[in-house]
Amino acid sequence: MKPKNYSEMQNVVFYESIDSTNEAAKRLAQGATDGLVVVADHQTAGKGRKGREWISPAGKNLYFSLLLKPAFSPDKASMLTLVMAVAVKRAIDELCAGADAVPCSNSTVGAQDENAEILQIKWPNDIVTGGKKLAGILTEMQLSGTTIDCVIIGVGVNVKKQDFPQESCAHATDLETAFGKEISRKDLLAKIRQRFADAYACFLETLDLSGLLSEYNRALVNTGRPVKVLDPVGEFMGEAKGINEKGELMVQTDAGVVNVYAGEVSVRGVYGYV
Ligand code: BTN
Repeated sequence: MKPKNYSEMQNVVFYESIDSTNEAAKRLAQGATDGLVVVADHQTAGKGRKGREWISPAGKNLYFSLLLKPAFSPDKASMLTLVMAVAVKRAIDELCAGADAVPCSNSTVGAQDENAEILQIKWPNDIVTGGKKLAGILTEMQLSGTTIDCVIIGVGVNVKKQDFPQESCAHATDLETAFGKEISRKDLLAKIRQRFADAYACFLETLDLSGLLSEYNRALVNTGRPVKVLDPVGEFMGEAKGINEKGELMVQTDAGVVNVYAGEVSVRGVYGYV
């Protein structure tokens, strides 16, 4: 079956202000078709991973959620976060191509590896540049028994120059500051939808990340770094080795390699955010 073109589908719902585009997508899910995009200028209750708040001022950033109604089993859904991370990276790479990343004064990223890509992915869902976060992804799933009703992939990209709250300013940035270039949120959304369509088609061929693996691993900022794995059942330390085709982060520990599942787990650099 020919995959649908998720970039050309017209079903987009726009809100000036909404609690959270992920929550709005959930409310619309029953009557919605696969591929619905919910976008807002402002979120009053934007959500990040692990129950964190995603501060969402008006007029500054891109906030959207993509609703999918896939036929695959629920255990595959967490990989969609990584598929979207590849799409967001590709989109920003294309729109900011030609713009030099503005050096980040307190960054050690890039200084250690001059071949590192300007845009990197911090497993599983952060898009970073110069050691600072530009975008985050929150994937949620609704089930009917053991089958997927819908998956909602929420994306927040910091676009325009802004003052970040004190607690995040040390490790957050925006496209305008990072690339010295104004990017239209409309163009960015269109480009991410196109690039997601390509990456999702690739994922659907194998129902794993084998087709995106080398690209993701090239962009992975964690590789070769000491990480603390923040697993709800117990934290541990190790060195990140890259991801496998299931999207798990392979972490070398004293007891051997542990494959960490993306679900509710995240990692922190031992010496800072990355
Ligand atoms: C994270 O990095 O913790 C994930 C952040 C995801 C934020 C986006 S903004 C659009 C969508 N709606 C939400 O409430 N959250 C996601």
